[in-house]
Amino acid sequence: MPAPPPGPGPAAAPVRVAIVGTGNIARFHAQALRAEPERAEIVAAVDIDTGALDAFRAHHSIPAGYTDLATMLAEAGPDLVHVCTPPGLHGPQVEACLGAGASVLVEKPPALSLAEAEKMAAAEGGDHGPWMATVFQHRFGSGARRVRALMDAGVLGRPLLATCHTTWFRPQSYFDLPWRGRWDTEGGGPTMGHGIHQMDLLLALLGEWTEVSAVLRRQARDVQTEDVSLARVDFADGAVASVVNSLVSPQEESRIRVDFEHATVELVHLYGYGDGDWRITAAPGHEDRVDQAWAAGESGTGSGHHAQIVRVLDALREGTPPPVTSAASLNTLRLVAAVYASAFEQRPVTPADLGPGSPFHDRMNGGRTL
Ligand SMILES: NC(=O)c1ccc[n+]([C@@H]2O[C@H](COP(=O)([O-])OP(=O)(O)OC[C@H]3O[C@@H](n4cnc5c(N)ncnc54)[C@H](O)[C@@H]3O)[C@@H](O)[C@H]2O)c1
Repeated sequence: MPAPPPGPGPAAAPVRVAIVGTGNIARFHAQALRAEPERAEIVAAVDIDTGALDAFRAHHSIPAGYTDLATMLAEAGPDLVHVCTPPGLHGPQVEACLGAGASVLVEKPPALSLAEAEKMAAAEGGDHGPWMATVFQHRFGSGARRVRALMDAGVLGRPLLATCHTTWFRPQSYFDLPWRGRWDTEGGGPTMGHGIHQMDLLLALLGEWTEVSAVLRRQARDVQTEDVSLARVDFADGAVASVVNSLVSPQEESRIRVDFEHATVELVHLYGYGDGDWRITAAPGHEDRVDQAWAAGESGTGSGHHAQIVRVLDALREGTPPPVTSAASLNTLRLVAAVYASAFEQRPVTPADLGPGSPFHDRMNGGRTL
């Protein structure tokens, strides 16, 4: 069954959007926005690289270009800013946008540390905005929403065991971009920069985590951070998960599998999924109910940026909370911080270990070297 079309009626005006950072990921934002002319109008783009800026503006027919964010905010007055710059710039740029009254959709990871993410959240405007949403697009594909709906309806039973593996391959040349592979500009390795998508989806499915035990390794790449992490994550409802993140795996794969009491749900994909990437296997005696509910569930939406961006635009036009609030993205960042804290401290870590005063609250590596 297709998802009900989200969104307000045609009377609401299109959201005036600016895009900051016109590199690799910005094109997915521009494509999604241009596919929704009734919901959004791209009014400006910002980049310090004028060549990239000019090419991006020409390709996407964007009327105004700026090399300075503050000038753009003052002159273009956007309703919403998509922040698509390297992670080390997200904090100050998001705060500048919120300070100018514009809401924000910021790329993952939203911040380099829990402290920075909390400061960004404190700059939001409360119930009436402006607010900040984070790009965690994997929550919004119909497959993830279908699993969540079956969980909520009690069809699957209790989650017992999960695997959440992001095993990708990045050659050394990938780290030529100066912000990659460094604690101070990327905030971490594949745990922070790559596996965070699936870790966010795991949290969206399994909820509150209670304890993490982890190890980090730098197996093959010349970087400051880990290129591999392995963690055991316990959840409040009793489920336990294996979380593996890698950038040294020639056979690349993204995999989430949850064994529930009444069925196994499995997702295998690479950088994004469609309905066909999900599989369900009912436990003996539960076939009819599980298979019927699965067949009747939501379908038709992939996990790309488009599905989340439509919801962000509609939230702004309807005055509702954004999809992936600052609190939700802080939760995900807290799980990432727990992996690093546990590995560096060589002990299990709980959420209470990561508050102000913990070195891992201020920096993902707690100021340590690997
Ligand atoms: N959601 C996803 O699936 C996904 C995928 C890849 C990357 N990302 C995230 O997107 C963000 C950007 O990654 P990318 O691969 O597009 O990087 P990129 O280096 O290709 O692009 C970044 C752009 O920002 C510009 N820039 C740098 N400083 C600036 C400043 N002060 N003001 C304005 N522009 C500035 C650069 O010139 C560049 O054009 C990162 O946070 C990354 O983690 C998300």
